[in-house]
Amino acid sequence: GPLEEMSLPLFFGWFLLSSVQDKVRCTSMDFLKTLDTLEAFKKHLSDFTGKAEKEVDLEQYFQAKGTLHCTTKFCDYGKAPGAKEYAQNTAVKEFYGSAFELSLSALFVTPRTVGARVSLTEEQLLLWPADPEEEAGSTSLPRGSRAHITLGCAEHVEPVQTGLDLLEILTLQQEGQQGEPIEEMELGSLTYYGEGRWLLTLREPICTPACFSSFYG
Ligand code: A2P
Repeated sequence: GPLEEMSLPLFFGWFLLSSVQDKVRCTSMDFLKTLDTLEAFKKHLSDFTGKAEKEVDLEQYFQAKGTLHCTTKFCDYGKAPGAKEYAQNTAVKEFYGSAFELSLSALFVTPRTVGARVSLTEEQLLLWPADPEEEAGSTSLPRGSRAHITLGCAEHVEPVQTGLDLLEILTLQQEGQQGEPIEEMELGSLTYYGEGRWLLTLREPICTPACFSSFYG
């Protein structure tokens, strides 16, 4: 019945404390602001606009959605494959409501999404579901590769896209594509991977407290 369907959340994940959400949002905004002004970015502007001469304000281009979090398992109230198994996992039950420290190691931007890559620890990987990388068709990337925080989506783009965009960049790296080194920024080194894919590898990872919990919506 409907009550049983409600007993599983929309998704499980790590939820950033509200005070650090603002800090992460500011960092991401600053990055977008700077990226916007770079000659290298302007050169590839058509990736974003479809027309070379048009301008784009990246801060307007991406819309922020809800509270910042790193999804572990998308359950869709139990309709997603493996949702029930995940919810019954020992680690999931044991760590539910616990505080963690997430390490954000990179920021990435594509014409569809902007996000932060999350580098999971061994303990955090205990809460990572079996197959989110494979579900996305990336069979050879290490577990946890998809871990990320969605910071914004372009119009008509769903947040699920952010993890797929990250996997795309990581797959290129794994295939040996170095990308085009653009410049050393204050936050780290910026690389272009073609087709509007930008990766900023942070010099110092951003560490942020986050609570492992679930969202019902
Ligand atoms: P993400 O984790 O990249 O931010 P929605 O609002 O679209 O229902 O999504 C709720 C959350 O679940 C979002 O955080 C979203 O993406 C994530 N999500 C949605 N669909 C999927 C999916 N099929 N696989 C993994 N995560 C998903």
